[in-house]
Amino acid sequence: MPDPFRHYEGVPVLDLPADPPIPETPAFEVLRDLAGTTPAADGPTFLSQLLFYAAAISASKRVPSTGYRYALRVNPSSGNLHPTEFHFLTRGLKEWPDGLYHYRPSAHMAEQRALGGLEMNWADSSAPVTFILTSIAWREAWKYRERAYRYCLHDVGHAWQALALAARAVGCDSFAVGHFSDDEVAQSCHLHEDEWPMLIIELRGRTIPVRELCATAALWYGGRANQLSRERVVYPQIDGMHDATKVSKRACLGISAAEPASTGRGEVKLPRPASSWRSYGEVARMRRSALDFLGGMQSMSFAQLSAILTVATRPFSADFAGTPFIQLYLYAHRVDGLKPGVYRLWQERAELEQIKSGDQRVQAAGLSLGQDLAGNACVAFSMIGDIERAVRAHGDRGYRYVHFEAGAIGHGLYLAAEALGLGATGIGAFYDDEVHDYLNVAPEQGQVVYHFAIGYPVPDPRLEA
Ligand SMILES: Cc1cc2nc3c(=O)[nH]c(=O)nc-3n(C[C@H](O)[C@H](O)[C@H](O)COP(=O)(O)O)c2cc1C
Repeated sequence: MPDPFRHYEGVPVLDLPADPPIPETPAFEVLRDLAGTTPAADGPTFLSQLLFYAAAISASKRVPSTGYRYALRVNPSSGNLHPTEFHFLTRGLKEWPDGLYHYRPSAHMAEQRALGGLEMNWADSSAPVTFILTSIAWREAWKYRERAYRYCLHDVGHAWQALALAARAVGCDSFAVGHFSDDEVAQSCHLHEDEWPMLIIELRGRTIPVRELCATAALWYGGRANQLSRERVVYPQIDGMHDATKVSKRACLGISAAEPASTGRGEVKLPRPASSWRSYGEVARMRRSALDFLGGMQSMSFAQLSAILTVATRPFSADFAGTPFIQLYLYAHRVDGLKPGVYRLWQERAELEQIKSGDQRVQAAGLSLGQDLAGNACVAFSMIGDIERAVRAHGDRGYRYVHFEAGAIGHGLYLAAEALGLGATGIGAFYDDEVHDYLNVAPEQGQVVYHFAIGYPVPDPRLEA
């Protein structure tokens, strides 16, 4: 197993203050795009707060039989393998030197890879903070082989929303840029060759503590990237998929609008959504993936499901997010007032169309690679991505965007479930073709890209605060 932590060694490491202020705004308000506020008065506290609620370690697990303890983070990750790294560029933050940094979650610190004003022509100079999310595919591939590339993309989608929502909770706007020249960003950030830039996220807003800009020459430290494992197996299909979805410098000029998503109607209207007053800070740090769910009789309310679906279909702020590419299918097992069955969500009208009736627990678990949690949940999901439409708009890069969107939706599902006192689990392991057959999804309609389950979690004895 490769080291789950990347360090750039031999560079100055800056402390991020411990115990940053808790974002008190209710999670559901943040998920409804209402901006919170922050008392962070300087750059270090602001960055500390942002990262503490977006990417830091938030719990640990201990395997009773061996005593082995491992860290869990605010952002979820397939197999807890964490292929996503957070780099950030700062410009004009109060009491914080301009430069390029890499976040070190193991110590909640920032590795200063370059100091001073950096000329990055892919970065908008009006943003005081710009994040560059990268993926280290090998971290996933040693376990999941070729399928790992998809998980890396989902993980980026989760990390994007973990960051965008933490930013919103402290009063900032964020905008994600997926269309950039991969090689140019990798070179200008001096990334180790095993790290691939995936998404750029610009943060702006009045709550960011800024000072006057001063022009300083750039000083590069770079740093030596730690070796994650002694051996590394090459997966040509992963490299091939990544190369096929790259944007070259020449093609980097514009981004086209996608055709609108198809619309339809259902016979079941979503009720008024439930809500909760739990703070964003508490929900983000308490979020966990359920190992399994309590089966039996306990159900969730339709109003809770409606709240979760409202969160899942909120718009995203990104250059590729003009129209959604994902459509949700639900396997309703135990939702008060909704008959068991499979439903397709028509989000524009907030309606559910029933496409199968009857108990779906065995099918949902079976399709999810035989994982019981998809049957023991109150509701499970298949996310169907319109990859062809994405590719018509964005070329092969569209393949990444569909998976980013799936991860981003999944992150909303996790937080909405947690805020409502339920639990959730992202499910990347499923039988693709069988899902298409079962749901009667023709190739031109899309492909399954992600599964999810929500219900009452079984307690996990390994979990430590
Ligand atoms: C893209 C993705 C795919 C996942 N697939 C599965 C899965 O198939 N089965 C499962 O039990 N958990 C799955 N998980 C949950 C992870 O195992 C979990 O996020 C990880 O162990 C870290 O735990 P945490 O979410 O509590 O931080 C997935 C998570 C993500 C983000």
